[in-house]
Amino acid sequence: MSNKKLAPSILSADLTRLAEEIKKVEEGGADWLHIDVMDGHFAPMITLGPVFVSAIRSITKLPLDVHLMIDNPDGFIEPFSEAGADIMVVSVEVCSHLHYTIQCIKKGGCKAGVCLNPATPLSVLEGIIEDIDMVTLLMVNPGFKGQKFISGLINKVQKLRKMIDERGLQIDIEADGGISQDNIAQVAKAGANVFVTGTAVFSANDYKRAIQDLRGQIKV
Ligand code: DX5
Ligand code: ZN
Repeated sequence: MSNKKLAPSILSADLTRLAEEIKKVEEGGADWLHIDVMDGHFAPMITLGPVFVSAIRSITKLPLDVHLMIDNPDGFIEPFSEAGADIMVVSVEVCSHLHYTIQCIKKGGCKAGVCLNPATPLSVLEGIIEDIDMVTLLMVNPGFKGQKFISGLINKVQKLRKMIDERGLQIDIEADGGISQDNIAQVAKAGANVFVTGTAVFSANDYKRAIQDLRGQIKV
């Protein structure tokens, strides 16, 4: 069973036909569904909350990878967990009690991830890396779909994979933002194993084909 996962981000889907869009990517072979939650404070956009996640939960079996780009996430861990999140990723830049936050996520039965903005150094992970299931590296600035991939961040993926391997840990590295046919192979080679693919899938005519082509690039 490969550990490489494709996680289409629904922010790039046609939100007027979300149920159909989710069904198409599920049938098209997506591994997870990436749900971008933004509050207009940490991230400059406002997207969706727990009520939407529970609606999505009711129409798909895909693991829900909930990306919390929100201030003070502690107050929303329980609602998102009850809504059906499988993985919850918090933004390290706004977590003043990160160890407590991770404990709360795991206590609720979710896998716990920490997300770093492009300019946030890997050193922030020193005190928490042994406690988490995934690190999400934003390859664009938070807030929007369809942004240009910041190629200079590939070596951040490489350094993170080295940091994880040196500790003998089994932690997913999720590359999030601007992932496409042009860069997914390089990002996989650098050590990422989960790939958020918003525009790369939802802007394609044939989602199944787009997912297959992306998977073909990461040899799984
Ligand atoms: C950006 C989000 C990403 C984004 C991915 O703040 O966290 O998940 O929606 O969309 P694409 O793949 O279009 O960059
Ligand atoms: Zn995201």
